[in-house]
Amino acid sequence: MDGQRRPRRHVFSRARRFEYFLPIQNQTARGVTWRSFLGHLSAAGIAVSAGPLLSHVSSTQVETPAPAISPTSAPASVSVTLKVNGKEYHLNLEPRVTLLDALRNNLQMFGTKKGCDHGQCGACTLHVNGRRVNSCLTFAIMHQGDEITTIEGLAQNGKLHPMQAAFVEYDGFQCGYCTSGQIMSAIACSKSPAEMTTTPYASA
Ligand code: FES
Repeated sequence: MDGQRRPRRHVFSRARRFEYFLPIQNQTARGVTWRSFLGHLSAAGIAVSAGPLLSHVSSTQVETPAPAISPTSAPASVSVTLKVNGKEYHLNLEPRVTLLDALRNNLQMFGTKKGCDHGQCGACTLHVNGRRVNSCLTFAIMHQGDEITTIEGLAQNGKLHPMQAAFVEYDGFQCGYCTSGQIMSAIACSKSPAEMTTTPYASA
């Protein structure tokens, strides 16, 4: 010995020595395992990210039960009277039935066509009180008392309406599916000054 004090060796307890050589996932330093550490971390992350959202929700809002929706709150069907081409029809319809579906499915009037069913193509055009309407965009129940005219109601005494005759004479078809809608639109445009001013293409 040279009289100098030798540096003290770090001495691990038996248990610490064991942990030192274990994979990190299994270490239990200070009583925290890797698995429990990850658990705490994810719980903290959820609390941090959800905190701002939850702070806007009062406890009364959270605890308020959703209002019960009774399955009988909307009537299954209602009595509806439609006047189509001068004749009255009495129907039982669900309130959500469109005028187009009422004509085709309940009155078997297939001249009014269903194309897009979204108000975009015009195949379903008919007249309500002389004005053109996309019948796929309106409920049948809204038209009680209205004068509804479909393509079937144009010809009189076996004679085509002049617009129908013009489409035939000038071969105004492509596939023909939406022709009834085109004819109904053309008639409304040619009759109504309001239609002429609101639809620039009509004057072309
Ligand atoms: S079906 Fe296309 S606009 Fe009504």
